Amino acid sequence: RINLGETRPEIVKLGSGERKTEVDYSSSDRGTRVRVFGRVHRERKQSRVLFVTLRDGYGLMQCVLTGPLSQTFDALTLTRETSMMITGEMWEVPPGAHAPDNRELHADYFEIVGKAPGGEDAVTNKVQAKGDPQTLLDMRHLVLRGDTASSVLKVRDAVEFAFNVKYHELGYTKVSPPALVQTQVEGGSTLFSFDYYGEEAYLTQSSQLYLETAIPFAGNVYCIEKSFRAEKSLTRRHLSEYTHVEAELDFITFDDLLAHLEDIICGVLSIVMGNPRIAAMLQELNPDFQMPERPFKRMRYSDAIDWLREHNIPNENDQPHQFGDDIAEAAERRMTDIINRPIFLTHFPAEIKAFYMPKDKDDPRVTESVDCLMPGVGEIVGGSMRMYDYDELMAAYKREGMSADPYYWYTDQRRYGTSPHGGYGLGLERFLAWLCKQHTVRDTCLYPRYMGRCKP
Ligand code: 4AD
Repeated sequence: RINLGETRPEIVKLGSGERKTEVDYSSSDRGTRVRVFGRVHRERKQSRVLFVTLRDGYGLMQCVLTGPLSQTFDALTLTRETSMMITGEMWEVPPGAHAPDNRELHADYFEIVGKAPGGEDAVTNKVQAKGDPQTLLDMRHLVLRGDTASSVLKVRDAVEFAFNVKYHELGYTKVSPPALVQTQVEGGSTLFSFDYYGEEAYLTQSSQLYLETAIPFAGNVYCIEKSFRAEKSLTRRHLSEYTHVEAELDFITFDDLLAHLEDIICGVLSIVMGNPRIAAMLQELNPDFQMPERPFKRMRYSDAIDWLREHNIPNENDQPHQFGDDIAEAAERRMTDIINRPIFLTHFPAEIKAFYMPKDKDDPRVTESVDCLMPGVGEIVGGSMRMYDYDELMAAYKREGMSADPYYWYTDQRRYGTSPHGGYGLGLERFLAWLCKQHTVRDTCLYPRYMGRCKP
């Protein structure tokens, strides 16, 4: 039995960067005896020396087993993902050699905590599986231990943290709206419905309506919650359950909303890039990444239709785009990739947008709405001003064939001290797909959920 509480030598974590241990292995602490715990990330035998790269979730450490230690049964049969404890002395790596963080542990003792299988069941056989994406998704719990998946999820943590920091710098209050609701936000076709003690209820598609009710007591508000969409198509950017960063801003104009969006996106990126450990991971994941230039390109929907026609990019029926078409995913992405910079696509026709979006005063065909498009992914943000006139909202329910009754609490917002306000929702998995240059949002969450997949 290994005594995890034993005090000597000191247990150290393997990380560097802001979680660096106190021991500076390259200078006066050279030769410090330490004890480390982790799992075998890689191992390599070179004559009578066994190099083990240990991983503990904080970082990697190369451990060198020499002499009789490398000839023990456990060393000779060591498999990847085996968990173990190693004690030894810390040294700089010799000139010309390479190891994570430029240090290595010269082992004088080790114990196995939990062996991992070799042969048929070896982790490398499980996760390589001829690169078949479905097998990799079935084995996601093991894939997560790999370099790419774990870096993406650490960047994800840093991004989520940065949103919290940036919103709090701006003085926003975080609230936590319910996931179980009885109203729709983005149309009935993607609602997950279920029986709620005998009443019909849904998994929320967006927390927007609830955020709007929070601004009178909190001012500008935000939330980072799950949203659910019963998407019936399999694309690389649609999930059934995703993390939605949403905010609602009080007493603003549409231009204020666009300026804020730029500020939050760039502010979050600077916070993330300011973390050297995360910046290094991003450099590996997306070496070509550059901070977006401000201001973002602004493009009205009608100009996008003209642009698509000029560039012979057809609509879903293989016809030239017409005003009123919903710009489909493929066309949107091609346009964004060619323009190759963030775009605020604004002023969509009312017919293709949600019931709560107000008309533009100068062009009643269109709404005060915005999508933010990023190269490689397309839409990562959807936002708009909100109707704040009571009669206008009542007419919108009617036009959409919606009963106003379940929305009484939302409508009251327009009765008890209304205000011009607006907000947006940003899909965290899409933002990460763009930032980390991942092909699909299925790789930017812990365990993706989409049509046909609800495991592991
Ligand atoms: O454009 P959407 O549908 O807008 C709303 O839900 C608004 N009520 C949000 C608001 O104003 N508070 O969705 C917003 C964003 C999209 O731009 C996209 O990034 C993400 O949510 N999104 C999805 N991400 C992954 N899988 C899906 N099925 C998604 N549907 C939307």
